[in-house]
Amino acid sequence: QYSEPCDIVVFGGTGDLALRKLLPALYYLHRDRHLHPDSRILALARARHDDNGYRRLAQRHLGQYLPPGDFEQATWDTFAARLDYMTLDASQRVEFPRLAKVLATRPDRIRVFYLATFPELFAATAQHLASVGLADKQARIVLEKPLGQSLETANQINDGIGAVFDESRVFRIDHYLGKETVQNLLALRFGNALFEPLWRNAHIDHVQISVLETVGVENRGAYYDNAGAMRDMVQNHLLQLLCLVAMEAPVHFEPEAVRNEKLKILDALRPITGLDVQDRTVRGQYSRGVRAGEKLPAYYFEKNVDHDSNTETFVALKVEVDNWRWGGVPFYLRTGKSLAQRKSEIVIQFKPVPYRLFGQGSDAPEHNRLVIRLQPDESIRLSLMAKSPGRGMSLQDVDLDLNFAEAFNKRRWDAYERLLLDVISGDATLFMRRDEIEAAWRWVDPIIQGWDDCYRSPKRYAAGSWGPVAADSLLDRLGHRWLDQR
Ligand code: BG6
Repeated sequence: QYSEPCDIVVFGGTGDLALRKLLPALYYLHRDRHLHPDSRILALARARHDDNGYRRLAQRHLGQYLPPGDFEQATWDTFAARLDYMTLDASQRVEFPRLAKVLATRPDRIRVFYLATFPELFAATAQHLASVGLADKQARIVLEKPLGQSLETANQINDGIGAVFDESRVFRIDHYLGKETVQNLLALRFGNALFEPLWRNAHIDHVQISVLETVGVENRGAYYDNAGAMRDMVQNHLLQLLCLVAMEAPVHFEPEAVRNEKLKILDALRPITGLDVQDRTVRGQYSRGVRAGEKLPAYYFEKNVDHDSNTETFVALKVEVDNWRWGGVPFYLRTGKSLAQRKSEIVIQFKPVPYRLFGQGSDAPEHNRLVIRLQPDESIRLSLMAKSPGRGMSLQDVDLDLNFAEAFNKRRWDAYERLLLDVISGDATLFMRRDEIEAAWRWVDPIIQGWDDCYRSPKRYAAGSWGPVAADSLLDRLGHRWLDQR
């Protein structure tokens, strides 16, 4: 069960992502014997630390982020023995021969270069690696989002990387694709005969994809204020989820086949331009509010956020996929920060029965709903109409509930664990190809442009609420509503 021996080199080793996500994932892979005993991890950043100083920093973070009981001193000691640190400024080419020298002590092994840095550094880092012979066939480069700010900037990054790394060795990560339930969506659709015949406009009324967060921007104000929810969440995570819901069955479960199908969906998204931007999109920003008695700050009072900021912390969209399977089915997408509840969910709302045999006179709609919940708990719930006990025939919806924690009595892997192993084994199925990124930006750019052109501020919503009221009106027009238990 060990992966191949490799060197994992993390640029941005002192950053939030490395300390909160990558090192914990590597710690679990080490503990559970997925990392080969010979594999080593080298963290790089500009800050001055020696190996032990960095290990202490990493240990502090692990102690903080791992669930109680998961941090074990003995496991940590063996993990720390394979963890080194090097002070290096990735923007300076002259610093790379030092890195090459360290890596040369173990030639001919897989090398994973994980760029957990600002995207402005991606292309230069790739080229500096190439200049010292580190972009060879054994090398894989992992790019974290955001991949640019627009189609144009994404192209610049991809061109820079593509000049030295072949596409097959570029792994553009979207950690949502590493989530178990997201992969279960594929299993549900393509490993069962039950849903496929119904999975189309003849039977599906509409789809809702929500990624709601209770956290605000935390300590990421400087990045977020330049990005906003559209670039931070919609361009990548939400569109990827939409692709997995909407795509055709790939011919094989292998990278090109899966990514070809996702790309067709991105290409089929009806553009939102001109007046449609007002009609089919809602952007919001949180103002101060309260959740469970706790006072929450307004977005523009967050650290490193401009006091006049017009950046959106909430987006809701009505999206159409123009193809034969989905013509006429609205896909409602919604994401936001500092909301009432943390919840990531995909809701497939089926059409009602053609004729209501039982419920005449009652308001109960007779239709089925499939809810795929990614967070906080992972479950798939199918609501069916059933007779309520007693006299008469009054129907009520009841849930068939598959809770993954109960069904599989196993620890849930974090997305990064799975994806890191995929990189080591060279499997790019759950990573984004260059043309997918481009297609996503091509669709997103005009929406952002439309917002900029109309000079309207985002709609305010109280922190701790369910977002701006306008997000409800977006669905009202077709008689739909967000399926939240408010
Ligand atoms: C990241 C975004 O990609 O995803 C964050 O940059 C967001 O703003 C995060 O909070 C959400 O991920 P998860 O796995 O916590 O749902």
